[in-house]
Amino acid sequence: MASPGSLTWLAVFFAALFLLSKLRNRLRLPPGPPGWPIIGNIFDLRTQTHRDFDRLKSMYGPVLWLKLGNLNTVVIQSAAAAAELFKKHDVAFADRKAPDSLNACDYIKGSLAEAPYDEYWRILRRLSLSELMVQKRIKSSAQLRKECIDKMIQWIKKDASEFCEIQLEKYLTIMTYNQLSSFMLTRDITDYKSETGNEFLEAMRNFLCWQGKPDVVDAFEFLKWLDPQGIRRHTRMYLEQLLKIVSVFVQERIQERNLQKGNNTRDFLDALLDYEGDGKGSVDKLSEKNINIIILEMFVAGTETTSNTTVWTMAELLRSPDSMSKLKAEIDRVTGSSRAVEENDIPELTYLRAVVDETMRLHPALPLLLPRKAREDTEFMGYDIPKGTTVIVNAWAIHRDPDSWEDPLSFKPERFLNSNINHKGQHYEIIPFGSGRRSCVGMLMAERTVSLTLARLIQSFDWELPANISPETLDMSEATGFSLRMSTPLKGVPREREAKC
Ligand code: HEM
Repeated sequence: MASPGSLTWLAVFFAALFLLSKLRNRLRLPPGPPGWPIIGNIFDLRTQTHRDFDRLKSMYGPVLWLKLGNLNTVVIQSAAAAAELFKKHDVAFADRKAPDSLNACDYIKGSLAEAPYDEYWRILRRLSLSELMVQKRIKSSAQLRKECIDKMIQWIKKDASEFCEIQLEKYLTIMTYNQLSSFMLTRDITDYKSETGNEFLEAMRNFLCWQGKPDVVDAFEFLKWLDPQGIRRHTRMYLEQLLKIVSVFVQERIQERNLQKGNNTRDFLDALLDYEGDGKGSVDKLSEKNINIIILEMFVAGTETTSNTTVWTMAELLRSPDSMSKLKAEIDRVTGSSRAVEENDIPELTYLRAVVDETMRLHPALPLLLPRKAREDTEFMGYDIPKGTTVIVNAWAIHRDPDSWEDPLSFKPERFLNSNINHKGQHYEIIPFGSGRRSCVGMLMAERTVSLTLARLIQSFDWELPANISPETLDMSEATGFSLRMSTPLKGVPREREAKC
């Protein structure tokens, strides 16, 4: 029989639940499935979160309310709701909901992507935008990107003569790392044989893999001390390894600058080292520790996202021979027969841009963008969103919404021809780079990298699927990690076309 003490606790527990539900009723929360005490809606998330949210959309509409453990969560799942968010409530929802594991090595304190909407974030954002989003800077780094792609094409040629089929991800990953490191540090970070480079890539792969796992601690803060899945422990281990490698590069540069040696080109690292506040704010210099974190973060944010997008595009083209031939014909027409395609050609390659947009629509690298957090109590589309609520935008669901797209599941680049809709963040039916104040700072560089890489791959080789795979049987299923990737690595058979490049 239950003791009087336990009966009292039970009564207190149910009274608390009752009061909570009353409070919920007073707040006009968005609709959502009923949750269980304490765990809330955790069991409504079964497979891949972006698909689970999309499934719930058909029952509860485009603004969904969930309680994930003790975490209030609102999920935005239509272009109209996203427009409302980005146009009217961008500031109110401009904080980030960072995963607890990223507190390891004080990562969040130095980070731009996970920083709250504060002075430190504004400084980093301004600095990054002037390096990454200003056309002049992007144009002046075109040669660096070209050289990295040239090397990749040469590697593929060499390997294609030895092996019949190649796994594309490997080449694209290394090329993307080198593009970013030559832009930020004026050096390659790896090649196919580099030991340190491979150590960096391996640690990064592991770090991103742990970051891709949902952490129960984020829903139940009281489990923090236990770290039941070991996510914080592993995150710390790989972060330490990665930061150690980056710190060597940064230290070398500081010494070169002290000795006034080195080349005269000013790169992203120089911009971080040169930063000086105006004396009015609280940040006058960036600490070496934070500079290490920022450099690392650009690799985190910019490499897998870019290379996975290129892999998905190749997969869609290999499944769609008609689109592949149209693209090849366009590139040949624009470049003639004697030269390699260049970044300057991209404005003329309208079909190429349509192919990339269509791929990012179907396979957004970050299907839930990066979660935000409400900075204050906010009235949103007639609902009350309490301060501290996690705000998730399900770009994946928006990109496949039949209210915005005809035949949304089919790959049809033609839908972007003669259309003014693009991915730049003003058309809320396609937001692979997000929108508003927290949108991607690397968009200009990413769109150039993906487009040029693709154009060079198509111009240099005729591509086929391996003999045992047809367009119908190619596995297009998704694996979720930090970013959306193909669950079966894509293989292709490249046959060299006559030498243009
Ligand atoms: C195809 C490639 C890429 C895709 C699809 C992508 C996508 C995104 C998305 C969806 C966000 C969050 C936006 C939001 O919350 O509204 C984001 C943020 C960010 N991205 Fe990218 N990204 C790519 C490449 C890059 C590159 C190349 C860099 C850097 C060189 C980069 C750096 C960042 C940073 C620093 C943020 C955080 C911005 C902030 O919180 O203020 N990304 N990206």
